[in-house]
Amino acid sequence: MDINLETFINQVEPHKIQSAHPPCDFKNRHVWESKLLYSVVNKLFSSCSLIDLGCGGQQTMKYSLFNRFPDSKYYGIDPTLNNMKDFSSLVKKVDCCVAGSVFTHLDFSNIKKILNTLKPMFDRGGEFGFTFFLGTEELHYGPNWYKDSNTWHVATTTVNQYEEYCENHGLKFKLLPFDHTNHTIHLKDKPGDNRFVATQNFANISKE
Ligand SMILES: C[S@@+](CC[C@H](N)C(=O)[O-])C[C@H]1O[C@@H](n2cnc3c(N)ncnc32)[C@H](O)[C@@H]1O
Repeated sequence: MDINLETFINQVEPHKIQSAHPPCDFKNRHVWESKLLYSVVNKLFSSCSLIDLGCGGQQTMKYSLFNRFPDSKYYGIDPTLNNMKDFSSLVKKVDCCVAGSVFTHLDFSNIKKILNTLKPMFDRGGEFGFTFFLGTEELHYGPNWYKDSNTWHVATTTVNQYEEYCENHGLKFKLLPFDHTNHTIHLKDKPGDNRFVATQNFANISKE
């Protein structure tokens, strides 16, 4: 799709479904979900298929997708939906995958497992768009944030980590030229300043 981000954001009205996860207000959610979809813009077309990994119970991204592409296919995957087992078979048939506010809660060993699982999609030319908290080092605050996985309230990861993984796996990492400030998170276990201004960065991974 040949379209700039601003036009893409304004292409459709916000779906106005209230999300339990930040960004919660419908205007900010619309912009954030639009940015996340735009992170795989090269793979979006009328009948495209997309996995929303870590979609959350409400799967609000599906409305952002269907409002633009009513004939597309949406697959929401999340531990809380008990359907993580479907992820590895779905990656063999979709055009793209997004993960919004998921790597912001995972350590890099967990992230690598997800990237490994996406290999069949990358091999078929598919793309992956995601958000993360860009740090100068990998840091974790607030353990066991979600049940059944090794998760954190806040996890930062670095560009070097993604670049190194991609170099070793014949993939290309792109830090996208836009970000999104959601809200201020209060960290209970961060020494000194206990506030974390949650600016998410967006990135794309595809085959080299
Ligand atoms: C902050 S919520 C984001 C929800 C949604 N993507 C949104 O639009 O806001 C993080 C989600 O990641 C899910 N999650 C936790 N560990 C995960 C993992 N290893 N793989 C995929 N999703 C995971 C959680 O269950 C939760 O629904």
